[in-house]
Amino acid sequence: MTETKFTPRVFSGIQPTGNLHLGNYLGALKRFVDMQGPEMETVYCMVDLHAITTWQDPADLMHSTRELCAGFIAAGIDPEHSILFNQSQVPEHAQLAWIFNCVARMGWMQRMTQWKDKAGKNQQNASLGLFAYPSLMAADILVYHATHVPVGDDQKQHLELTRDIAIKFNNDFGVDFFPITEPVIEGAATRVMSLRDGSKKMSKSDPSDMSRINMTDDADTIAKKIRKAKTDPDALPSEVAGLEHRPEARNLVNIYAAMSDQTPQQVLAEVGGKQFGEFKPMLAELAVAKLSPISSEMARLMGDQAEIDRILARGSERAREITAPILRDTYEIVGMVGAGQN
Ligand code: TRP
Repeated sequence: MTETKFTPRVFSGIQPTGNLHLGNYLGALKRFVDMQGPEMETVYCMVDLHAITTWQDPADLMHSTRELCAGFIAAGIDPEHSILFNQSQVPEHAQLAWIFNCVARMGWMQRMTQWKDKAGKNQQNASLGLFAYPSLMAADILVYHATHVPVGDDQKQHLELTRDIAIKFNNDFGVDFFPITEPVIEGAATRVMSLRDGSKKMSKSDPSDMSRINMTDDADTIAKKIRKAKTDPDALPSEVAGLEHRPEARNLVNIYAAMSDQTPQQVLAEVGGKQFGEFKPMLAELAVAKLSPISSEMARLMGDQAEIDRILARGSERAREITAPILRDTYEIVGMVGAGQN
């Protein structure tokens, strides 16, 4: 496969379930913003079809989808530049996923750790959609011939599966049609951990709200959560090596670094030797300064739902300009009569 055949195109998706938090911002949204540029086409999707692989209240799903769209824009995604839309409005995702359901093997899907974790002990009672989740994800990516996919470390296995599906499709039909996608895995510095337990990812499903900073938290709440964040009694080290075996200290330093666009080492050069009693207020001040403009912009955008819906509809139209021809070619390759006509 030649590297030059496919134009550089970034695709990524986020599930519109629950509230956005600092982990989503630093680990995903901010990185997506940083990838916007003249040399890359950027496509960002609210994956509502993935969300319903476990039951969602319909009204909540609509609210979360719009709020996520507001979050993307407030974080700095420019909907004129990037293609921003919700998955269900671009039917080619689900259509290509069906083709991939016929390419991927049961054994491949059964090995997926996210499937095993999410289905738990009761696999027989999980939805068929949850099992096929990675095949839809492969379709999301490949229906754009995307070359670069920024994701969290927990999605690495799904990207390997995406490559396997592309390779098998190309082999089965003797074509060089789907690109072999490069994962752009987040670094440890952008992986935001729980404020209560530095070994667990910050998560919207953690029962303790004190474990995370929500994008909609006000300044007082942010400051309080940082003040109460779990730490250890020692002062901050001056070198990154000194953060080893101190997951909570490392997490707060990483958060500070990511929010101030510095490396953890640069941060420690500044704050090494300080106690948490001194560092936490600095972190709180920075977090409030960075997050409050985003949360107020989100609130403003959420005040004009019709505008959000127009942005998503427009994004979907632009997306379909890419996906419709790729799906049509796929159908032709597979042997579907009539594919060439529409
Ligand atoms: N599975 C991803 C997650 O939970 C979300 C997702 C769906 C995605 N489709 C995608 C990410 C395509 C990247 C590319 O984080």
